[in-house]
Amino acid sequence: MPPLFDWEFAADPYPAYAWLREHAPVRRTRLPSGVEAWLVTRYADARQALADQRLSKNPVHHHERSAHGKGKVGIPGERSANLMTHLLNIDPPDHTRLRRLVSKAFTPARVAEFEPRVRELTDRLIDGFAARGEADLIHEFAFPLPIYAICDMLGVPAEDQDDFRDWAGMMLRHHKPGEPGPPRGGVGRAVKKMRNYLAELIHRKREKPDEDLISGLIRASDHGEHLTENEAAAMAFILLFAGFETTVNLIGNGTYTLLGNPRQRTLLCDALAAGDDGLLATAVEELLRYDGPVEMATWRFATEPLQIGGVRIAGGEPVLVVLAAADRDPAKFDDPDVLDLRRRDNQHLGYGHGIHYCLGAPLARLEGRVALSTLLHRLPDVRLAVPPDELRWRGGLIMRGLRTLPVEFTPQR
Ligand code: HEM
Repeated sequence: MPPLFDWEFAADPYPAYAWLREHAPVRRTRLPSGVEAWLVTRYADARQALADQRLSKNPVHHHERSAHGKGKVGIPGERSANLMTHLLNIDPPDHTRLRRLVSKAFTPARVAEFEPRVRELTDRLIDGFAARGEADLIHEFAFPLPIYAICDMLGVPAEDQDDFRDWAGMMLRHHKPGEPGPPRGGVGRAVKKMRNYLAELIHRKREKPDEDLISGLIRASDHGEHLTENEAAAMAFILLFAGFETTVNLIGNGTYTLLGNPRQRTLLCDALAAGDDGLLATAVEELLRYDGPVEMATWRFATEPLQIGGVRIAGGEPVLVVLAAADRDPAKFDDPDVLDLRRRDNQHLGYGHGIHYCLGAPLARLEGRVALSTLLHRLPDVRLAVPPDELRWRGGLIMRGLRTLPVEFTPQR
């Protein structure tokens, strides 16, 4: 079996996934953390597992959970427990109740109201580097855009958004190349600052509500929808985090893929120049399928013995559904290793499936469409500034994304 989880794998996991799909589609594997988990790599098994209610999202079901309550797969400790009781860690009926409260804010129609603001943010970020003729598209573009967009949506005042950017950068270790990583204890301090800030913001919005998402959540709790203040803070936290690094990687991986596929890029640029936005929509879906931001769906735990793809999983065992592998399954997609921006009926699993299907998909699609089309329009000759094998991918189980994306282009005055 090809090695998993080393540097080579991080740069291109797809050959290893092809091997797994063919030879061991449901395979028990030791992860870098030492935890043993089942990897599910075929599309049909992945889709079925994502919808299987016997697979719980609550880490208390993990069989390796120790007597004093802490497990090896991110069971929250005392300090972060309040923020971790969120949609991706809970099951129905709590999940159903909390998701219903927030889903109104994420309908395509509500999200479309944000388009002018996303366009304004995108242009402002490009203005920041357009005259230089070079940029790191991760740090200067893909990273700040989603954090400002989600802060706006939540109702974080503009003057506080740079603090959020710094805390999120610390928590996700998004430091600039050459700069040292977070200092000892820095990540914990950033979580604490964000938690305190959110608690205070919720308090302020309760006193003086507005039209934003946090005020909406508070109103819902005040109208007997049983949303505690902790749940409101955890909701704001998961919206920030689920919506943040994923979108950074959609823009980063998507741009990188387009730069490496000049014919497909030309097809898209020609369509945009002709005012045809239809291709842009299918292009964003195909970029998600081809090299999506979420490599594996978040943890699931068998609440009872069950079978996936004919393999028996014991109660308490963790399961990781490998979305990136499923989305290249030749049993589901024609020529899965070929980027085809015109691909129709593209039922990829990049946003998951079942009750935890990505709540923010309409916002992610909007940001992806605006970011990629504006970038190609404003910097028509944008190209990689280093050979692809010099790029470094961020290691990590769940997300797949680049550390940096250095590009060059004709300076725009
Ligand atoms: C859930 C992908 C952007 C909010 C998910 C899941 C995936 C996903 C795969 C399911 C995880 C699982 O089943 O374990 C993505 C991708 C994005 C993106 C690829 C960008 C391209 C966003 C944005 C937001 C968001 C912008 C919100 C602002 C959420 C939330 C959940 C979720 C709240 C949990 C839903 C639930 O458990 O009911 N996302 N996401 N995501 N996503 Fe996204």
